[in-house]
Amino acid sequence: MPLNTEREQWGSKIGLILAVAGNAVGLGNFLRFPVQAAQNGGGAFMIPYFIFFLILGIPLMWIEWGIGRHGGRFNHGSAPGMFDVLWKHKLAKYFGTLGLFMSMVILIYYTYIESWTLGYSIFSITGYYFDQHTADAMRTFLYNYQGRATGEHFTGILPAYILMFITFGLNFWVLFKGISKGIEKLAKIALPLLLIFAAILAVRIMFLGTPDPSLPANSVWNGYGFIWNPNVSLLSDPKIWLAAAGQIFFTLSVGMGTIHAYASYLKPKDDIALSGLTTAATNGFAEVVLGAAIAIPVAVAFFGLQTTQEFAKGGAFDLGFVSMPLIFQRIPLGQVLGFLWFLLLFFAGITSSVAMGQPVIAFLEDEFGFSRKKAVGVLATVVLIAVQFVVFYQKYGFLNEMDYWAGTFGLVVFALVETVLFMWVFGAGKAWKEMNEGGDIQIPRVFYYLMKFVTPVVLFVLMIWWFVESAIPKLLLVGVPDVNKPYYWGSRALMVVIFIGLILLVRKAWQLKANKEESN
Ligand code: TRP
Ligand code: TRP
Repeated sequence: MPLNTEREQWGSKIGLILAVAGNAVGLGNFLRFPVQAAQNGGGAFMIPYFIFFLILGIPLMWIEWGIGRHGGRFNHGSAPGMFDVLWKHKLAKYFGTLGLFMSMVILIYYTYIESWTLGYSIFSITGYYFDQHTADAMRTFLYNYQGRATGEHFTGILPAYILMFITFGLNFWVLFKGISKGIEKLAKIALPLLLIFAAILAVRIMFLGTPDPSLPANSVWNGYGFIWNPNVSLLSDPKIWLAAAGQIFFTLSVGMGTIHAYASYLKPKDDIALSGLTTAATNGFAEVVLGAAIAIPVAVAFFGLQTTQEFAKGGAFDLGFVSMPLIFQRIPLGQVLGFLWFLLLFFAGITSSVAMGQPVIAFLEDEFGFSRKKAVGVLATVVLIAVQFVVFYQKYGFLNEMDYWAGTFGLVVFALVETVLFMWVFGAGKAWKEMNEGGDIQIPRVFYYLMKFVTPVVLFVLMIWWFVESAIPKLLLVGVPDVNKPYYWGSRALMVVIFIGLILLVRKAWQLKANKEESN
């Protein structure tokens, strides 16, 4: 068995932790989390959120670091090869294909969203939207920018299109520079900066108090109260539990294959027990302390509770790209604060999107012997073709459909597969030893039982529940306007093409390996 000698490596432990934390801390922390909390009962949401953090989030973190480092030993940086070493069965690698598929599909639309934040940081510092004073006007500005309509400020999609290319270009450049000179270096700069920007914004917002003294209910304090006061009676609603589980997956970047890829560049005796915990905790801090302290409290202070809930119903984009710009127009130094906000989102986004590119690159390098340049070139070509559909058909729901199958439902499926493979097929005893090997801490024994019994059962229940509750109606296109239906099918067709393409590549890679072994 080829034991790893010349794989790329992380430069330092702190660099690795920043990179994995950068992977986890993303748009989800600052946009998706506050929206989810606001839509699902505010403080009541936090209770299932913490429970799932303990029984799903942390266990999956350790499981993924464990599978990843173990795979790296055998020169595998992506899920097909990793699953193949866990389970000596010819189907194992095909299960692993899911790990390539989801990270790649999410990369395609996530990076496009990330490019809007770059655009809006420029529009903030230049005050470009500062003449749009109402929510409707700001929404129109966003739609015009996205090319969903044309009008004032944007006569076409060209600006969004150029920023999209610049953003993808930056991502591919970082990936091309590699693990320690690219991803790690980026994380070392971007993660501390974004945490500082977030802290500045959170503190500034706290001092806003009650911006309009004649409306005392509209204060940041009521905003905090809204996020933190639990209305325990809401906990009987299963919707809240499902939403909390979904957010835990999304925010920790688990269930997708990207943590594995990063962990594969560790040495076999490097710590994962403490590092996994540290990254989950950093992400939690960026989410429940910083993410909770910005968009929602400031919206309550300026617009009141009811309007804030309406923004939240409009989704993450309304809160980030409509509500926040309106607020920046009303506070001193708004152009600068707006610039910080969108740059913070951009940094949060790019340290996540590079992580989504790494599994496919590792796959091409490790299983086909591609050079990094060639691997990045192949990924860039495919992704840049696919993103055309996302850009031009976004208004018909193309992006949402990808976000549901790859970015929501797929995560649970993959998480269940990897948990069963690691804790049951590979074996809980060996898995436990692997996760604790070289550890700076000993993982508390209770997690052994959680990972072996509780996590897989909860994942299974969630998967079935989600399937009945949302996957079936989604599949049947319930509530989708007729004109949009072809685009939903188009989105599915694109995903199927990508998935089959990846399956064929995996098959090819193993055929090549088999031939090589024969001729030796
Ligand atoms: N965790 C990221 C966020 O909060 C989003 C995300 C989900 C992600 N899965 C990922 C990022 C995989 C990188 C890799 O925004
Ligand atoms: N599903 C998200 C929501 O409505 C929207 C979304 C898709 C998103 N991808 C995202 C939000 C990435 C933040 C980051 O809340």
